[in-house]
Amino acid sequence: MTIVVTGATGHLGRLAVESLLSRGVPADQIVAIGRSVEKIQDLADRGVVVKRASYDEPETLRAAFAGADKLLFVSASEPGKRIPQHQNVIAAAKDAGIGKIAYTSIAHADTSDLMLASEHIATERALTESGIPTVFLRNSWYLENYDLKGALEHGLYGAAGEGKLSIATRADYAEAAAAAIAADGIDQQVYELGGEGVTLSELAAEVARQSGRDVTYTNLTPEKYTEFLVGLGVPEGFAAVLADSDRGAAEGALHTGTEDIEKLLGRPVTPLADSVRDALA
Ligand SMILES: NC(=O)c1ccc[n+]([C@@H]2O[C@H](COP(=O)([O-])OP(=O)(O)OC[C@H]3O[C@@H](n4cnc5c(N)ncnc54)[C@H](OP(=O)(O)O)[C@@H]3O)[C@@H](O)[C@H]2O)c1
Repeated sequence: MTIVVTGATGHLGRLAVESLLSRGVPADQIVAIGRSVEKIQDLADRGVVVKRASYDEPETLRAAFAGADKLLFVSASEPGKRIPQHQNVIAAAKDAGIGKIAYTSIAHADTSDLMLASEHIATERALTESGIPTVFLRNSWYLENYDLKGALEHGLYGAAGEGKLSIATRADYAEAAAAAIAADGIDQQVYELGGEGVTLSELAAEVARQSGRDVTYTNLTPEKYTEFLVGLGVPEGFAAVLADSDRGAAEGALHTGTEDIEKLLGRPVTPLADSVRDALA
């Protein structure tokens, strides 16, 4: 039973491969793909099959997927380019006769008005149309999106108001993804995944509590937050996407309100206090 993991050279994909290995999936039945395969030489050294493949080069995807049974499809990372890239992945999966896909989507993809959601909606539709049995892993926000050590000096900034975000660690999302793809069949088609809902004021308060420092959250308008991010060196288009995500988060777009993650993890999601402690260590 061979499982391909896309984005394995990135943070989430690597953690998912690690999680598959710790679940007992034999290394030679995992195919880890990405472009910068030098980053995962350590996985190759442990017996994982590592193949270079690009979402922009269909023939590399077809070669990587040949003979595989399942696909953990980690979404691509450049907003604006993802629809054709994801179509290439789905076409290659179809050609290879892949029998099950788990795709990392975004919270409430089917109803979300976030700019970030549009490519996920298109991908979910294309996956459904492909006829390949697919699990949608609708991830909320990563804790790692926040620079908590930086917040010790400068505080936290955003535009999410008092909206709750279902923040969880990448490691928890990766473990959930590994569980979803490793399972036989499909127990549930859509998982709304994330941690316990928390406002950014509450996140700042937890950082303050643990550090003993005066860490507060400053809420900006989406426009001011875009300017703030651009001032930090974030490219303007991406800054606008991030500020738009906070705009939606203020209205609940990143709050899952489910315990779906626990179903996949088979344990409670990592408590925010523990994740904050690890992030500050
Ligand atoms: N929910 C959230 O809070 C959140 C936050 C950030 C990202 N995300 C999404 O979750 C995904 C995984 O997150 P992450 O933290 O692991 O991101 P990451 O560390 O930036 O990894 C992105 C992965 O995508 C691969 N990739 C990008 N363009 C590619 C291409 N053209 N062809 C093949 N592979 C390509 C990269 O591989 P190479 O560069 O080696 O090719 C890398 O393995 C992201 O891609 C994004 O869709 C979600």
